Amino acid sequence: MSRTREDSAVRHSEAIGRMAVVIMAAGKGTRLKSKRPKVLHEIGGRPLLSHVIAAAGRVVAPNDIYVVIGHQAERVREAVAATGVGFVEQTEQRGTGHAIQCARPAIAGYEHVLVLSGDVPLIRTETIEDLWRFHQAERAAMTILTAIPEDPTGYGRVLRRSPDSPEVEAIVEQKALAAGQHDLREINSGIYAFRVAPLLEHLDKLTNQNAHKEFYLTDMAGLLGAAGERVVATLSTVAAEVLGANTIAELVALDATMRRETASRLMAAGVTIYRPETCVIDAEVEIEPDTVIEPFVQLLGRTRIGGDCLIRSYTVIENCKVGSNVLVRQGCVMAESTVEDGARIGPYAHLRPGSEIGQDAHVGNFVETKKARLGKGAKANHLTYLGDAEVGEGTNVGAGVITCNYDGVNKFRTKIGKGVFVGSDSTLVAPLTVEDGAYIGAGSCITMDVPAGALALGRSRQVTKEGWVAARKAQQQEKR
Ligand code: UD1
Ligand code: CA
Repeated sequence: MSRTREDSAVRHSEAIGRMAVVIMAAGKGTRLKSKRPKVLHEIGGRPLLSHVIAAAGRVVAPNDIYVVIGHQAERVREAVAATGVGFVEQTEQRGTGHAIQCARPAIAGYEHVLVLSGDVPLIRTETIEDLWRFHQAERAAMTILTAIPEDPTGYGRVLRRSPDSPEVEAIVEQKALAAGQHDLREINSGIYAFRVAPLLEHLDKLTNQNAHKEFYLTDMAGLLGAAGERVVATLSTVAAEVLGANTIAELVALDATMRRETASRLMAAGVTIYRPETCVIDAEVEIEPDTVIEPFVQLLGRTRIGGDCLIRSYTVIENCKVGSNVLVRQGCVMAESTVEDGARIGPYAHLRPGSEIGQDAHVGNFVETKKARLGKGAKANHLTYLGDAEVGEGTNVGAGVITCNYDGVNKFRTKIGKGVFVGSDSTLVAPLTVEDGAYIGAGSCITMDVPAGALALGRSRQVTKEGWVAARKAQQQEKR
């Protein structure tokens, strides 16, 4: 989307006037059989509800958005509070109609209200805008967004007055379908625009005489029509965007759709993604052109990757900032870290949170870093642990080196200067400073600071006993 959220919100608040958005998100999601409330289940790496709020936020300002919460209300509120939306409590979940009854005080001051479902996350801003335009042009009291999906089972069906008429007679829920109504293919998306005055005037006429003993918002279609108000429907051209997530299978299908779209967006922007169906790329990930992503890569959270990178298979990168020209070989795990231009990572490297890998630095196989900064061109190529450490420019950390940062109670830092040579299999016991240009002999256990340019050895001297093997054999023969 090229418009910024701010531009769009301003443009629309002028055009739309006093319009509120209510997002129904109080339900438990019984069909998911999960401890987590339905609207906090994720697709594309973000909760369902966050996607709906984002779509609404491109149409009205956040303080005109009201989320109806109920089941695990505090958890839901906390998850999206940062967006600045308002909340309405529906303490008992007595149906979608009851959810809007609970929102009555919030919407009373508005001219129109757009109702969205917290579990219909793929809805596009363009479709919301089209719905709004249609609602205005039709001067309707209620406008229903509909779709014709491949399988309409489970959805409410829209009964038009005649096949070509925009006017709707009623919405019939799946369980209430009469014998002849099962072939009705046009479904109710659960997304509506209402003029607030007629909605509130007739809202209390809803009853719960139905299969679920709930107050259905869908019954407003019949009620408003009976009161002489205009009720119309507009068909979404993209059926997939109004599908709901009521079961795990539906969630997984929506997740796949969203990730396919993310991969397409990135490929259109010049990124090569081989076998995109095998990659897991979250909705907010950004990648610059000429980067190649191999099969079975996961790019999660707010990960940013520069151009001309190669990310090889089985790598998982979460919330990282990766520069350009970076090679990440197979099987790396990287989280909350930064990697600067030209660096080489892996195979099988583990960058834990707070790792900062400098320009052209190398982090090789079976190397783990945590809160560690490697300067420009620094290398730790094999079998190393660098925790709470600083490694200066051009320093070489030999195979099997370990920073001992933890004494069982506290963590301490290891500071290694520029151009240092740390011999293989050394242990560096923190707190420790190794100054620029120092050398550490292989196999050392270093417990004291090393001044610039010094050689430090922290190991016992080798003892060589000439002829020892033959002497022992002779001794053993004598004993027999
Ligand atoms: C609803 C519609 C159905 C439509 C479908 C589209 C009704 C009666 N039916 O069915 O016609 O085809 O959506 O996806 O509206 N919620 C509350 N409070 C409640 C109950 C639900 O806030 O008391 C919220 C839920 O959290 C959910 C949304 O409303 O986000 C829809 O509820 P859900 O139970 O999923 O309705 P459906 O059976 O899918
Ligand atoms: Ca639903």
